[in-house]
Amino acid sequence: MTATNVTPQELNYANHSRDQYDDEIRRSIPGHRELHDRLAQIVHDEFHGSAIRILELGSGTGLTAERVLLLVPGSDYAGIDFSEVMAAHTRNRLSRLSVPPLTSRVICADYAQIPFWPVSERSDLVLSVIGIHHQGTDEAKKNVFRKVYNCLRGGGLFLFGDLMTFRDQRTAALNEALHYHHLVANARDEQSLREWAYHHKFQNALAPMESQMNWLREVGFRQVDVAYQKFNTVLVVAKK
Ligand SMILES: C[S@@+](CC[C@H](N)C(=O)[O-])C[C@H]1O[C@@H](n2cnc3c(N)ncnc32)[C@H](O)[C@@H]1O
Repeated sequence: MTATNVTPQELNYANHSRDQYDDEIRRSIPGHRELHDRLAQIVHDEFHGSAIRILELGSGTGLTAERVLLLVPGSDYAGIDFSEVMAAHTRNRLSRLSVPPLTSRVICADYAQIPFWPVSERSDLVLSVIGIHHQGTDEAKKNVFRKVYNCLRGGGLFLFGDLMTFRDQRTAALNEALHYHHLVANARDEQSLREWAYHHKFQNALAPMESQMNWLREVGFRQVDVAYQKFNTVLVVAKK
């Protein structure tokens, strides 16, 4: 088995336009907007608008990249997405930014299969929002965290937003129930609910938040904190 537990084809991206996908992910990820508000606040407070080097794992349609790049004009951006459809959406979105990055490259590859440092050496910031939960095993997630640590400069930040579970079984069960309730309450229609519920139940590989924070510490991050949480949606900030 490869580290990544799905193929881009299994994720059905070709069936959505960019705007449709953006609408669906905003509806389907509890706290998607608030997580991005918090992430933007952190980028603002940490970098004060200076140009930085950014690597993003799983750039999707470029929503997260756009939010961040507008705060740090003149930055160097490298994104990786294993879906050609999504990589094209990111490129397209970034090419239309009112304040374009100095350089931007979006590579179509499985980030679990490639080294990061030739893509982005000594990054100031690594981003991944809803992009690591398809690493199918604990070991696969730890490998990604190790690679993130190694490509960051000292003091650099990893902003890791994702769907996670929890060690305490009652907390895990409650947040899972609330996640499905959110899907039912917010789905555009029944077909969309069918797809997102299937995706969550059979394609997502969630690991406990507490374990992932420990793995980040084990690979070397000196400060690891939760910056936002709603149900299974968590934003972890890890500082090298
Ligand atoms: C759900 S999107 C999220 C995009 C954006 N951050 C947001 O919140 O709207 C995550 C992206 O990660 C990509 N992805 C997942 N696993 C990947 C892997 N192993 N290598 C490269 N891309 C991956 C998917 O193709 C998808 O486009």
